Amino acid sequence: MKELFGSIRRNALGLSLFAIVTAGVIAVAQTTTADRIKANIRAAEARALNDIIPQSAYNNALLSDTLLLTDHFDTALLGPIADGALAYRARQDGEAVAVLLPVVAPDGYTTNIDMIVGIRPDGSIAGVRVVAHRETPGLGDKVDRRKSDWIEGFNGTSLNDPAEEAWAVKKDGGAFDQFTGATITPRAVVNAVHKALTFYAANHEKLLYLKGDDTDGE
Ligand SMILES: Cc1cc2nc3c(=O)[nH]c(=O)nc-3n(C[C@H](O)[C@H](O)[C@H](O)COP(=O)(O)O)c2cc1C
Repeated sequence: MKELFGSIRRNALGLSLFAIVTAGVIAVAQTTTADRIKANIRAAEARALNDIIPQSAYNNALLSDTLLLTDHFDTALLGPIADGALAYRARQDGEAVAVLLPVVAPDGYTTNIDMIVGIRPDGSIAGVRVVAHRETPGLGDKVDRRKSDWIEGFNGTSLNDPAEEAWAVKKDGGAFDQFTGATITPRAVVNAVHKALTFYAANHEKLLYLKGDDTDGE
């Protein structure tokens, strides 16, 4: 009897140890995966910033001239935003060149579409890039600049150009092309760019001129 209890206790101890080690391994794997995903998104964001505003167009420390959106703004107009989302400011000799906003389109075909929207001080679009998405290859993924130049169609647009009611895909009576067999993804991106412009219109003074969180004296 005594031996039986001893064996059960040993088994239970063994199982507990196994559970603890397994939980630890999973936790470490999840952290490293999460860190890797974060690092990938940061790298994609940095590429997007450079694509939208070429380095020759600004001479401030773009990556440090930032505002943590949740600290300084009511982000309701932007809709959902990622944790730690930063607005970046590009300046040439102190003069604002563009504000670059991280924007999330929550209504993609598959899931969120993460984007950077660059807006010039006059409220016109400097450029838009999708930095992370899981839309279907050959259908929704044409919003990705590496797959098609559709996203360039936003360049130079603003809240009034096209007119308010034309901020939609053509199928919905708007100015922007949808793709053959894929309307949901471009519709989501058009809506998100429009939201970024609305947010900019309501907050442009602060977005352009508020001292950054980490400005390195810029
Ligand atoms: C497997 C599969 C994947 C699809 N992927 C996308 C996609 O990534 N983006 C998209 O807009 N539509 C995608 N569609 C098509 C949509 O279901 C929808 O038919 C299309 O966007 C047209 O939308 P509409 O009816 O609002 O015009 C996919 C359909 C299937 C069957």
